[in-house]
Amino acid sequence: MDSTTDPIRAFIELWSEARAGVPDSVGDAVALATSSDDGMPSVRIVLLRGCDERGFTFYTNFESRKGTEALAGKRAALCFHWAHRKIQVRVSGATQRVPDAEADLYFAGRPRESQIGAWASRQSRTLSSRIALLRRFVEFRRRFEGQTVQRPPHWSGFRVVPNSIEIWFDRPHRLHDRHLFTREGDGWRHTLLFP
Ligand SMILES: Cc1cc2nc3c(=O)[nH]c(=O)nc-3n(C[C@H](O)[C@H](O)[C@H](O)COP(=O)(O)O)c2cc1C
Repeated sequence: MDSTTDPIRAFIELWSEARAGVPDSVGDAVALATSSDDGMPSVRIVLLRGCDERGFTFYTNFESRKGTEALAGKRAALCFHWAHRKIQVRVSGATQRVPDAEADLYFAGRPRESQIGAWASRQSRTLSSRIALLRRFVEFRRRFEGQTVQRPPHWSGFRVVPNSIEIWFDRPHRLHDRHLFTREGDGWRHTLLFP
């Protein structure tokens, strides 16, 4: 990697190698960090559902903790660790809502039970009992009987539009290889970092 490398293209290639032959909870899993108004960070795993020159896309409930923080703070960070490939990738940038038509298309391709689950889950809010969740699932399943399950208005995708991407390769003697790409105009500036 050097100053001629496009980090998004490089990421897509590494991601495609990392997901070969492993479950999506390994190849697509990424830690997503957001923070509250007063600066308290929070982090959780989501699944990467797309990456192209526009950014890194995942789907979630916009009323969840991550959803409200990503909407209000307008920024987020991602950290991938593909242990089986000995690679870490860190991304930070602005958050953008995925256009509704794109989210509709993604939602339509999900298994029906997951679509109903998206309606049933008031993600991140307090739940009185597991039974209460299952009841909501059954209610929504009944509500959509014989119909297409529409995407809930509070469920959609975020895109993290990167302003920095760091790609880390494990090397012997802890002399790891770190490539930092930072946005510069329409392109990227490449720098090496001490491990
Ligand atoms: C492997 C894995 C994949 C996950 N993928 C997603 C996802 O794509 N979207 C999502 O909203 N939550 C996903 N979750 C659940 C989140 O980690 C988290 O528990 C949930 O979204 C609530 O987070 P919040 O309260 O911080 O908003 C995943 C969890 C794991 C372990």
